[in-house]
Amino acid sequence: MHISLIVAVTENGVIGKDNKLLWALPSDMQRFVKLTMGKPIIMGRKTFQSIGKPLKGRDNIVITADQSFQAKDAFVVNSVEQALTKAKECAQKREVEEIMVIGGEQIYQQTLELASSVCLSLVHTHLKGDAFFPALDETIWQEVSRELFSADEKHNYDYSYIVYTRA
Ligand SMILES: NC(=O)c1ccc[n+]([C@@H]2O[C@H](COP(=O)([O-])OP(=O)(O)OC[C@H]3O[C@@H](n4cnc5c(N)ncnc54)[C@H](OP(=O)(O)O)[C@@H]3O)[C@@H](O)[C@H]2O)c1
Repeated sequence: MHISLIVAVTENGVIGKDNKLLWALPSDMQRFVKLTMGKPIIMGRKTFQSIGKPLKGRDNIVITADQSFQAKDAFVVNSVEQALTKAKECAQKREVEEIMVIGGEQIYQQTLELASSVCLSLVHTHLKGDAFFPALDETIWQEVSRELFSADEKHNYDYSYIVYTRA
């Protein structure tokens, strides 16, 4: 079973502020939907609440330490280990080979070492934020593809979509 992290991050490592994203990149969002559809998605409770609803067509697995937390149409678990167990079970039922970790900072930090790939949209700007993605160690992560997308009337920044796998 592959574990992939999917993230959009500025050049200074920012992924969000005040529990929100800081950009509008519809083509990146479409890619996110395509890459996560039909798969288990693991997220932290804050990211789940930031999205505001379970994402359709995917097994939403939400990690919280709050034993009483409930979410309609999502699996609530109390540790990363429980999330991975549930995600593997869901992936087997759906006959897919990949589990997607969709954030945020706390969950990326705890799953990066378990991941075999990182799908990273590098937003070509520097912003102030309060949630970050760790810098990828080049001795561990190898860039296998990169594509540049230019800003336009619908996309407020240039960004590059980069795939990393373990070197
Ligand atoms: N740019 C992107 O691609 C992207 C993607 C996702 C999110 N984001 C951004 O990231 C920010 C949110 O990140 P965040 O780090 O603040 O929050 P988060 O990782 O989404 O969620 C953190 C919460 O997860 C739970 N948690 C974490 N580790 C746990 C563990 N080992 N066991 C049990 N529960 C655990 C805790 O919930 P409880 O407090 O309920 O116990 C914790 O408060 C937002 O700004 C969001 O917009 C950006």
